Amino acid sequence: MTLLKVEQISFQYSTEKMLIDKLSFEVLEGESLGIIGPNGCGKTTLLKLILGILKPIKGIIYLEGMDISKMTLGKIGESIGYVMQNPERQLFMPSVAEEITYALHIRGWKKKMIQNKLEEMIDFFDLKELEHVSPFTLSGGEKQILALAAVSVLKPRLLILDEPTTGLDPLRKAKLGYFLKKLQKNGLGLILVSHDLSFVKNFCSDTLSFYSAYRSI
Ligand SMILES: Nc1ncnc2c1ncn2[C@@H]1O[C@H](COP(=O)(O)OP(=O)(O)O)[C@@H](O)[C@H]1O
Ligand SMILES: [Mg+2]
Repeated sequence: MTLLKVEQISFQYSTEKMLIDKLSFEVLEGESLGIIGPNGCGKTTLLKLILGILKPIKGIIYLEGMDISKMTLGKIGESIGYVMQNPERQLFMPSVAEEITYALHIRGWKKKMIQNKLEEMIDFFDLKELEHVSPFTLSGGEKQILALAAVSVLKPRLLILDEPTTGLDPLRKAKLGYFLKKLQKNGLGLILVSHDLSFVKNFCSDTLSFYSAYRSI
């Protein structure tokens, strides 16, 4: 099944230069797409278009068959889990446990269900020892895993990570990769924006490169 279909989208911030020009691609269930390209070529912008935060000037983006221009940001957010380029910006709760369960609290989940879900996530992401720790004291790699856990809690169909390996040592990179593979076993689609070509090669079945487009400008 096609999770995401990007059809001939174009986008520009200023009138001088088209940043994204008639771009098309698809992400299928269980598939992982690596997006690579130099700094400033429009990778994060593309993610914001997919999330509905920005609107394409031309073209249509379909999420599970629905035109996202007809969906609310909340509805899009139910299908997509987004870990930002700097995940620290999306962590704001006093403890790891509260960070993971925040989305469940605001959706009115029952206490017992929240507790069960928390245990499942702590177990899946191996966070037992950090459960009561403040997210702000975590290392870069731990923050990345926590942000991933917090966006995975509502079982998104598509997971988007923007430059997740920045600043991670090989061990933490491998750990992140391990959880991504584990998540993908459940049929999740994955979009991974990265400078790290070997990481992309290891974890993505397909690659979208901005390099050639960039060179031709
Ligand atoms: N809100 C904005 N307004 C105007 N220009 C922007 C804005 N955000 C990003 N840009 C510009 O758009 C280009 C692409 O940015 P971005 O998508 O963040 O690139 P990447 O993620 O590939 O490094 C850059 O030249 C950047 O300066
Ligand atoms: Mg970026």
